[in-house]
Amino acid sequence: MAQTMQLVFFLYLLASVEATDVFRLVNSSVQLDVQKEAPKDVSVKWIFNTNRIIVRNIGTLSKNYKDKAEFNTKTFSLTLKNLQKNDSGLYAADAENDDITTNVAKYQLYVLDPVEKPVLNVSYQQINGTCTVTFICKTQYFSVTTNCYRDHCDNKTEKVFGNLLLFLYIRNDFIVCNHSNPASWETATIEMEHVKQLCLSKGISTHT
Ligand SMILES: *[C@@H]1O[C@H](CO)[C@@H](O)[C@H](O)[C@H]1NC(C)=O
Ligand SMILES: *[C@@H]1O[C@H](CO)[C@@H](O)[C@H](O)[C@H]1NC(C)=O
Ligand SMILES: *[C@@H]1O[C@H](CO)[C@@H](O)[C@H](O)[C@H]1NC(C)=O
Ligand SMILES: *[C@@H]1O[C@H](CO)[C@@H](O)[C@H](O)[C@H]1NC(C)=O
Ligand SMILES: *[C@@H]1O[C@H](CO)[C@@H](O)[C@H](O)[C@H]1NC(C)=O
Ligand SMILES: *[C@@H]1O[C@H](CO)[C@@H](O)[C@H](O)[C@H]1NC(C)=O
Repeated sequence: MAQTMQLVFFLYLLASVEATDVFRLVNSSVQLDVQKEAPKDVSVKWIFNTNRIIVRNIGTLSKNYKDKAEFNTKTFSLTLKNLQKNDSGLYAADAENDDITTNVAKYQLYVLDPVEKPVLNVSYQQINGTCTVTFICKTQYFSVTTNCYRDHCDNKTEKVFGNLLLFLYIRNDFIVCNHSNPASWETATIEMEHVKQLCLSKGISTHT
């Protein structure tokens, strides 16, 4: 019985933690916590990209991380400050006790720039006496377009470019363009009323 318990515990120790994705902005910081209870009387070491040691023995930060990181000797949490893009990568914590090494945390960190504010433009043209309005939302890399014909507008349009998302939708009489990545977002909006005025000023009827 006791032996079975020991075996179960041993297998538990060997089981590796699945990497958790974490997204942060450039210049921000992140606290990485131990995800699995570390066994008693262990030293916990944090490793970057499987081979670069950040924390060696309890409390000992390697030279490169002196000003960059903080290690909590009670909780074994690692805090990384002033994140830059090259800090992106795999962070793992291993608890070491005699011959047994237990993986107690694993994070895939992505350090991203904040997204740029999108530019939302509206244009209109008369097609057979009806004002047709076209919205185009642009960023440096890609754009989305949506149209309103008569009283019908396509409500939702979205496009993905790498980890960037452009989402164009109508809410509460505003057309909104939302540019986001997993760490930040920016919007541009135009009031629908403004669009109606554009059409009216040209003497074109519209029902948008
Ligand atoms: C990060 O900080 C540096 C130095 O303070 C600054 O020049 C840069 O614009 C900041 N970047 C972002 C994305 O905030
Ligand atoms: C990232 O780049 C900075 C500046 O070039 C360098 O000091 C730092 O060691 C690099 N960090 C990593 C994790 O490679
Ligand atoms: C979009 O709007 C900006 C600012 O209102 C304007 O300068 C630009 O010419 C417009 N672009 C297009 C393609 O209509
Ligand atoms: C405009 O009306 C003409 C004649 O009814 C039709 O043939 C044409 O397809 C219409 N154009 C558009 C863009 O709806
Ligand atoms: C358009 O889609 C947005 C986002 O899903 C939703 O909040 C909004 O109510 C919708 N608007 C209309 C007019 O259907
Ligand atoms: C923009 O998109 C982000 C990411 O999907 C979301 O968290 C945020 O609430 C959105 N903002 C608006 C104003 O829709």
